[in-house]
Amino acid sequence: MKDEIREELAGLTQNVGKYLRQKKENGEKWIASSAKDIDNGRKVSEYKSGSLFESEVLDADISSVKNLGVLKEMVEKCRKCPLGSLRNNSVFGEGNYSADLMFVGEAPGKDEDKQGRPFVGRAGKLLTEIISKGMDMRRENVFIANILKCRPPENRNPMPDEIECCEPYLIRQIELIKPKVICTLGNFASRTLIGVKDGITKLRGTFFDYHGIKLMPTFHPAYLLRNYSKQNRIYVWEDMKKILKELK
Ligand code: URA
Repeated sequence: MKDEIREELAGLTQNVGKYLRQKKENGEKWIASSAKDIDNGRKVSEYKSGSLFESEVLDADISSVKNLGVLKEMVEKCRKCPLGSLRNNSVFGEGNYSADLMFVGEAPGKDEDKQGRPFVGRAGKLLTEIISKGMDMRRENVFIANILKCRPPENRNPMPDEIECCEPYLIRQIELIKPKVICTLGNFASRTLIGVKDGITKLRGTFFDYHGIKLMPTFHPAYLLRNYSKQNRIYVWEDMKKILKELK
């Protein structure tokens, strides 16, 4: 799709979202363009996969979603921010729904947007190696997610309102998966989840508490690829060893 058309679509979606929210605030019902669009007043905890409407996702209380299948479908139908109209695919995350270890990156890139899977490009290959060769674990046995579920144009940094819309999905993923350890990859994920402004060089190497879960920040694999020094690899290896010890 051409960039101008995508941008126009994104603007339109945002306006429709605002309009619908305003109607709801005014106590008015959704406008139904077909029987399918009628807001049937279901509770979010009653949602079943395969039956959600985009209008339901717009205002849903994400924190009361009961399972990851429904949450994934909500992400697929999400149009809360303009990125929802720019994506080819949303990237919910993948792996074991009861994983002890969860990796959290920044946002999908071009390859991830194309495939709908996290960390499948060059940085992803390095992450997979860190997990399999470095940690002697299987990628399928951990869970890999991102702060944003849709790709920002040209891989620019996520914007505050995009994070505000998207972070509740990650928070609910963490609540439902209940990992023992979270490993945040790079500045962006680490700062967002820890809630500080410090850089990754300062943050990495020690555990933080994330609502009772141990959180270890480490370098993003894309940063490692750009700065492939022996020292940086040693730093990441030290962080992974601490995680492994915690998982025992
Ligand atoms: N970088 C990220 O932060 N996440 C991905 O999924 C891919 C690259």
